[in-house]
Amino acid sequence: MLRCENVTFVYKNEEGEGRKVLDNINLNIEKGSFVAILGRNGSGKSTLAKHFNAVLIPDEGKVYVNETPTDDEKKLSDIRKSVGMVFQNPDNQIVATTVCEDVAFGLENLGVPFDEMHKRVDDALRAVGMYEYKNAQPHLLSGGQKQRVAIAGVIAMESECIVFDEPTAMLDPKGRKEVMETIKKLNSEMGITVIIITHFMEEAAKCDRVIVLDKGKIVNDGTPEEVFSKVDEITSRGLDVPQVTRLVNLLKKNGVGIKGGMLRTKECADAIDALLRERQN
Ligand SMILES: Nc1ncnc2c1ncn2[C@@H]1O[C@H](COP(=O)(O)OP(=O)(O)OP(=O)(O)O)[C@@H](O)[C@H]1O
Ligand SMILES: [Mg+2]
Repeated sequence: MLRCENVTFVYKNEEGEGRKVLDNINLNIEKGSFVAILGRNGSGKSTLAKHFNAVLIPDEGKVYVNETPTDDEKKLSDIRKSVGMVFQNPDNQIVATTVCEDVAFGLENLGVPFDEMHKRVDDALRAVGMYEYKNAQPHLLSGGQKQRVAIAGVIAMESECIVFDEPTAMLDPKGRKEVMETIKKLNSEMGITVIIITHFMEEAAKCDRVIVLDKGKIVNDGTPEEVFSKVDEITSRGLDVPQVTRLVNLLKKNGVGIKGGMLRTKECADAIDALLRERQN
């Protein structure tokens, strides 16, 4: 779906001084995958995300979307249609006065015929569980609901891949949960490739693959189990690990013979329970 080859990117200021923010990134993201990108503030996550739909073009190297290089200006609208983006602040993404107009906005701009537009808007709203709010005013919705409307706008464009840049950062726990469940469903039921930038390790633990950026370089790439089992390394990069992983790591450090790299509460509780029973016997 997406491929980065030796991607380097430099932000230049008015004096022409440069600052290298992406440093030789090589990355291949398969269709249908569900990937988290982690990294401390300023590590280059959003800059990388903007390369995935040609908002930014690399200074060196290339980014390919379905084998089309993002610097091919004739293909720009195809690229933007294939890869949609959802950002942190739901209020900045609402453009219309009703939910359905908001979801239809991008389609109107594309000149999609009226009947098809209605069908796509309805389908997209159903996919995010917001159909019953079709005629509601967006500013009256909760943060999580607004974010789901923003997601519906991208689904209506029939994007194959959606890049989420901290989609839950401004939400309360309930909103965070409903948005994460929606995102998970897009991937598992609709086959949409999902890339999610997040500071919540519990969200990253739900993905198939975790990529860690530090100072513009990829420093870790693997399954959540693989990446989070390196607790000390992850912590040294300014990141946290899921609570369960932290607990298991502390137990191990204190000489408890428990398997590392655990991510799920149930798995951890069962392992501790088994250890306690062993001790009793
Ligand atoms: N438009 C810009 N012009 C100049 N420098 C920028 C610009 N946008 C970002 N930067 C700088 O590039 C670096 C990487 O920024 P980026 O937004 O990609 O980081 P991030 O990993 O998304 O951080 P955060 O977790 O805070 O969102 C930072 O040092 C930032 O200050
Ligand atoms: Mg960012």
